[in-house]
Amino acid sequence: MFLSKEQEKMLNGAYGSAIAKCMELVVKIGDVYGAESLVPVESTQIAGVSYFTVGDAIFSFFKMLMKDNIQVKVPSWLNPAGMDLKRWKEMGITADFADKQFQILDNYEKLGIKPTLTCTPYLIGYQPKYKSHLAWSESSAVIMANGYYGARTNREGGPSSLASALTGFTAKYGMHIRENRYPQLKIKVKTDMIDLVDFSILGYWFGEKYKDKIPIFEGIRELDLEHAKLLSSAMAASGSVPLFHVRDITPEAKNGQFEKYMETIEFTLNEKKEVQQQFTSNKRKIDLVVIGCPHASKRELEMIANSLEKKEIKDDINLWIFTSKKILDETRSENIISKIERSGGEVYVDTCMVVCPVIKEKHSIIATNSAKAAFYLSKGENRSKILLLSLPEIFSVITKCE
Ligand code: F3S
Repeated sequence: MFLSKEQEKMLNGAYGSAIAKCMELVVKIGDVYGAESLVPVESTQIAGVSYFTVGDAIFSFFKMLMKDNIQVKVPSWLNPAGMDLKRWKEMGITADFADKQFQILDNYEKLGIKPTLTCTPYLIGYQPKYKSHLAWSESSAVIMANGYYGARTNREGGPSSLASALTGFTAKYGMHIRENRYPQLKIKVKTDMIDLVDFSILGYWFGEKYKDKIPIFEGIRELDLEHAKLLSSAMAASGSVPLFHVRDITPEAKNGQFEKYMETIEFTLNEKKEVQQQFTSNKRKIDLVVIGCPHASKRELEMIANSLEKKEIKDDINLWIFTSKKILDETRSENIISKIERSGGEVYVDTCMVVCPVIKEKHSIIATNSAKAAFYLSKGENRSKILLLSLPEIFSVITKCE
């Protein structure tokens, strides 16, 4: 692999052993995938934050990095942690868990990374630029960056995105190369796409069936950020799709340059039903509803608050919504959060339904509008415990009759 003089110096230890180890990791990954060079990154997004998912192993990695006094070289964002940093006791998190979680965040802060704790950095002030190179690791954020914004990132692991944050480089292969970003399958959407859950179902169906293929969707007339968020997170969960295009809408599909022959597949009401049938249960027994996978936007919170206005959630059902601290602060001042809380809902930040340890432990029948959340919450469990529903369906079941 070609390395610049500066990159050679990093690798050879001129900036200390921690930077050398990080560079070694970046170069090794590049070697495995046949990269010819490295590319500077504009930002990184780092998974591997929740103590629930990383355990104690992360502390030896931090110990190695802390040998030298190093700081990240580019803006870097942390994925959700295992708990709301303020309301962890209310969530039922133990003091031992909280202690370990705070230690992890302290270590990241020493490296210069603020605890943004969200999978949606693009909602809190960082929208990736078209064609910019990134090293992001949260799968839903990776596919949004590639598909919705037209930026370029592979799906990094937690350690490799951190290595990129500390060196400023990633290996140039995969999604960083234009020729690898062409669509491989044309999907004609032939059913109504009305609710957010419809986009989640389409994404789930595609990922489950076609794994890591790159689709171009036709027949989607409107794709706002919330649609794209649900569509892409589902594709990256049931499969490992790194990028999607929507004809005439997403940046790389705006000029219709993908006219070459491609196999065409239809997504109809039948395919939609196939996915819905995987997540069915007894609606009357729901004891928890989780919304905000990926983290809820201000618009979603507004939508939820309006739907719940003057309604009350049934006493034996919890509604937990997940978002980032920044979105919470913005919406709290506009009374959106108080409307949700008045109805009996809770809005948690810094964490989510998948990386927080108490969700499955404490609840039996869980409903959500996110196929990604449904996929992870049903892992290793009886699928019938998880329901995938639209927001109107959810609210009609969980609120008291007026
Ligand atoms: Fe985000 Fe957690 Fe879903 S990290 S994409 S809310 S599983």
